[in-house]
Amino acid sequence: MAKSGKRQRIGIITAGGDCPGINAAIRGVGKTAIVKYGMEVFGISDGFTGMINKEFTVLTERNLSGILTLGGTILGTSREKPYKSDGNKREIGKPAKIKEHYLDMELDCLVCIGGNGTLKTANLLAQEGLNVIGIPKTIDNDVWGTDTTFGFDSAVNIATEAIDRLHSTANSHKRIMIIELMGHHAGWISLYSGIAGGGDVILIPEIPYKEEVIVKNLMDRASANKPYSIVVVAEGIKNPGKNGGSVAQYLSGMISEETGLETRETVLGYIQRGGSPSPMDRVLATRYGTGAVEMIANNDFGKMVSLRDGKIVSVPLAEVAGKLKLIDPLDPMVLQAKNIGTCFGD
Ligand code: F6P
Repeated sequence: MAKSGKRQRIGIITAGGDCPGINAAIRGVGKTAIVKYGMEVFGISDGFTGMINKEFTVLTERNLSGILTLGGTILGTSREKPYKSDGNKREIGKPAKIKEHYLDMELDCLVCIGGNGTLKTANLLAQEGLNVIGIPKTIDNDVWGTDTTFGFDSAVNIATEAIDRLHSTANSHKRIMIIELMGHHAGWISLYSGIAGGGDVILIPEIPYKEEVIVKNLMDRASANKPYSIVVVAEGIKNPGKNGGSVAQYLSGMISEETGLETRETVLGYIQRGGSPSPMDRVLATRYGTGAVEMIANNDFGKMVSLRDGKIVSVPLAEVAGKLKLIDPLDPMVLQAKNIGTCFGD
């Protein structure tokens, strides 16, 4: 209850690419807000498009039940970036609409569940005077200021299972299997699932690769009577391919030409972003959701809820906005993988 005695009203928005665990976070926010604090909760439709067009639904405890295990987002999402205009100038019409509708709806806070783009927008809205709280979500795990984002663990589980399945068919046919995973700037999914799935070569955007190093590694393995190899690549690594194909296709062609070995490629795509969240992601999303409401109750606005050394804390959105959490090429995990002979192409 607000000091005035009026029930506090909060909006929840889910924006950017979806990922497993968003509904668990919506539930965490909504149930804590309703059950513990008696707040009114509104679910904004389709990301920032819903705030621009004032499209929302009232969320009750009843319709927050049964969504914990669901993939995607019950609110819908979009890639709408309200501050981005078609020209060089910063858009002002859409942010003005968002502000107008925030006031019309008499919101006390807008909880923005999203990745880097969403958190950047959330920071700009906070600078305009709106009470905003960010919750970090993305399979890419590249949000600065938090140890991990929900969605990542589920994606690593799916990618690892895919790699596991490639081993048997690669072995039967004595082939080099190349699997391309998501991650434009950050190779977290490839690093974790590459290690978990026993990838022989792992290529990530943070470590530039040399083709001759990959070729030598695969030839050495073949000479050592290793019948097959698995190459795990993040989609964002350098792609010298001229035909607009995937980087997995490019590497597949290059490797078969240079080694004479048979290759096949798999692009896992949206399968790694869909479906039910892992138990770890359900827990993390729930902790973030409840943590965000505690921040509202403490008037701790303009911040992102975050995980630091196992604890839920808050970080100013201004510190998070515009930064990416990338893999340090000297990260102990990279070095440990190198210790067991994994090739990073460098
Ligand atoms: O959510 C992050 C991400 O999965 C990236 O790794 C991926 O390249 C991108 O989204 C693609 O999403 P969309 O096609 O929905 O823009």
